[in-house]
Amino acid sequence: MSEVRPGLEGVVAGETAICSVRPEGELIYRGYNVHDLAEQAGFEEVAYLVLFGKLPTGAEIKAFDDGLRSNRTLPPGVIESLDRLPSDAVPMDALRTAVSTLALYDPEAGDNSHDANLRKAARLLARMATAVAAQHRLSQGLEVVAPDPELNHAANFLHMLRGRRPDEFEARVLEVTLVLYLEHEFNASTFTARVIASTLSDLYGAVVGAIAALKGPLHGGANEKAMDVILEIGEPARAEAWVEESLRQKRRVMGFGHRIYKTADSRVEVARKWGGLLGKQLDDTRLSDICTTVEEVMRREKNLCPNVDFYTAPIYHMMKIPVSLNTPIFAMSRVVGWSAHVIEQIDNNRLFRPNSRYVGATGLEFEPLDRRG
Ligand code: ACO
Repeated sequence: MSEVRPGLEGVVAGETAICSVRPEGELIYRGYNVHDLAEQAGFEEVAYLVLFGKLPTGAEIKAFDDGLRSNRTLPPGVIESLDRLPSDAVPMDALRTAVSTLALYDPEAGDNSHDANLRKAARLLARMATAVAAQHRLSQGLEVVAPDPELNHAANFLHMLRGRRPDEFEARVLEVTLVLYLEHEFNASTFTARVIASTLSDLYGAVVGAIAALKGPLHGGANEKAMDVILEIGEPARAEAWVEESLRQKRRVMGFGHRIYKTADSRVEVARKWGGLLGKQLDDTRLSDICTTVEEVMRREKNLCPNVDFYTAPIYHMMKIPVSLNTPIFAMSRVVGWSAHVIEQIDNNRLFRPNSRYVGATGLEFEPLDRRG
């Protein structure tokens, strides 16, 4: 009988040339260390790298970026549908609906050719950020803010969210987190997207499924739950006792642990550094101090390391972004990774259809309804 691996732990489910966590813990996108990319490249440049498989030349990034900037506006029907959602809709659910609706307005939605999928991936990347900002403003009874073609992806998102141009440093910090979130090989949401793509369904459907998977608190939803933890702790002096009590009650501390990283999530170092810089700029190190103490106690008590969500969450909070937008922000970056995987899957497809080991009943005798009482 073949071995069952719950959660597919340790199973190699396919090959990819997009991204890898190397045995020593280094995270690479298309061969480049994520630290180098986050520190030295812009979000659009890294998105190009992941989608096209090579770093762009000056002319290539200009054409790609111009395309993103000119595709940011949502079709009016999508704005109308967002406006009809309940004002208390969960932003991740609203984003899932927005992507599903966007498909209805894309004439190439059903074209699974390599080039059409690249064009759709760029449109989705451009529009998901607009959808997140627009739905948030509509839910607050505010006017939707038009994209600003003079701003890059990160700065434009903050502009559309708040209705004013952001501080340059703040936009750069957001950009760094978007690079860190952009791709992470066969995680749950990407695997979901690849399974959907393997049936030769379409990119939009795969991204809708991926958004649903990302929402869960064991995956991307942890960046909202981690912030709840940090806010509940409130003060650095309360952190140690809070963690000890949580562990005593066998509660999971969100933002800690990872299926792949057992000693360190390679993205944490970069997120911690930029969060610290933002805190210093705002003259408020309270959240960083809480995080540092929680990290120390979690290592001491459980030998568990923080994951990237634990350090991006306070960054977004310092930017005064509502906690419920943390996971949609993750999604509006990860859509690049999802799209690259969908394209890679379709270009070299084999339907995902694993086996299961049946552990239910057999040989039961059927009793017609009228005899079952
Ligand atoms: N808090 C407390 N204990 C934990 C945590 C945590 N966050 N994570 C794992 N553990 C403990 C488990 O209780 C278990 O302990 P035990 O052996 O004493 O029973 C042990 O560590 C192993 O846990 P598993 O659930 O088997 O580890 P797995 O690899 O399946 O889990 C997961 C990974 C789901 C991410 C887990 O660490 C977790 O639930 N973390 C909190 C949610 C989170 O932060 N998710 C974000 C992941 S990163 C991302 O998606 C971007």
